[in-house]
Amino acid sequence: MGWNTLDDMDLRGKRVLVRVDVNVPIENGAVTDDTRIRRLAPTLNDIRNAGGTPILLSHFGRPKGKREPELSLLPLIPTLEAAFDAPVVFCADCRGPAAEAALSALEQDSILMLENTRFHPGEEQNCADLAAEIAALADVYCNDAFSVAHRAHVSTEGLARLLPSCAGRLMQAELEALEAALGTPQRPVVAVVGGAKVSSKLELLGNLVEKVDHLIIGGGMANTFLAAQGIDVGKSLCEHDMSDIAAQILTKADKTGCAVLLPSDVVVAREFRAGAAHEIVAANACPSDAMILDAGPETVARIADVLEHAKTLIWNGPMGAFEIAPFDAATNAAARKAADLTRDGQLISVAGGGDTVSALNQAGAADSFTYISTAGGAFLEWMEGKVLPGVDVLLRKHAEPATA
Ligand code: 3PG
Ligand code: MG
Repeated sequence: MGWNTLDDMDLRGKRVLVRVDVNVPIENGAVTDDTRIRRLAPTLNDIRNAGGTPILLSHFGRPKGKREPELSLLPLIPTLEAAFDAPVVFCADCRGPAAEAALSALEQDSILMLENTRFHPGEEQNCADLAAEIAALADVYCNDAFSVAHRAHVSTEGLARLLPSCAGRLMQAELEALEAALGTPQRPVVAVVGGAKVSSKLELLGNLVEKVDHLIIGGGMANTFLAAQGIDVGKSLCEHDMSDIAAQILTKADKTGCAVLLPSDVVVAREFRAGAAHEIVAANACPSDAMILDAGPETVARIADVLEHAKTLIWNGPMGAFEIAPFDAATNAAARKAADLTRDGQLISVAGGGDTVSALNQAGAADSFTYISTAGGAFLEWMEGKVLPGVDVLLRKHAEPATA
């Protein structure tokens, strides 16, 4: 498997379209986690040091082909400038005369950030005309957005067909880390899967039970599994219509020899707010007027035991409602355990997913993990062994003679 990197490209005097993913969480106009942005800095430094001019392309949210003012990338400019330590000029369109004019006027050493690609319907349709129009702006295409590589869009796939193409440093690091963790992992392999996107991950779980030795299930989806076993989960987040699929996954895990760990004790509360009155009960004893918001201490001890005997960990999704204390306890404890084992050299730990990164940061564990992916859906699809169009096209381009 191979792909071009920035080292394979001649960038001197070249305009480089860089597909980045600045789809970061924002609350009240402020970026709450700038990890994805900060990790783009090596790519931009390397392009600029090699004499190239970076032209950034990104989506933000899901405007569905319409110009939605609240999904403009303009408010991100100060965060980008701080992260890249360079002037970043904003252009209110990602194509056409506005983009051409902004490029002509761009001063040496500045970076151009084009407006949200998804304001154009052609982006998600991978429209050839839009791709040609954007490609005409530059000489080289660099994809540094592994986190959108599962989309076959103009900015992630179409442009790579038209221009000499390479992976950026972040894309390169993601691919190398995931290849090392999942290509030929050291066993036992443990997957921790949690979070609230229950239905989307149940399918993934079906695949994971074939590949990993232990599957630890937490968060909202654990309730669906408990309910599938006939346990009353009260008012907990639970997809009762997924019961059959959850039961099938457990049966499959039995057959493949994958040990599934579900919560044996849980933290329950009557309201979903920070500091709400709560109690710890057995997983099968959730009061009918209460909801499960976290795994309990006995479950955390069982998770720690599994991690201690593992060689490789793949983590996606928090174990409980980690955004509000005290329902962050299981996520924090498990994350810190994994971080300790990684620091001791006993564990290779790879984690991905927007919520996951926030949760591991909050636990103070992220820095100790072997690798933290910036991707959510793309990370999961990679774990499922699916072909990611944004990666696949880079592999195909690598096989072509370089022309840049
Ligand atoms: C993400 O945050 O998951 C990526 O930016 C991809 O966004 P999307 O799921 O809207 O394609
Ligand atoms: Mg997504």
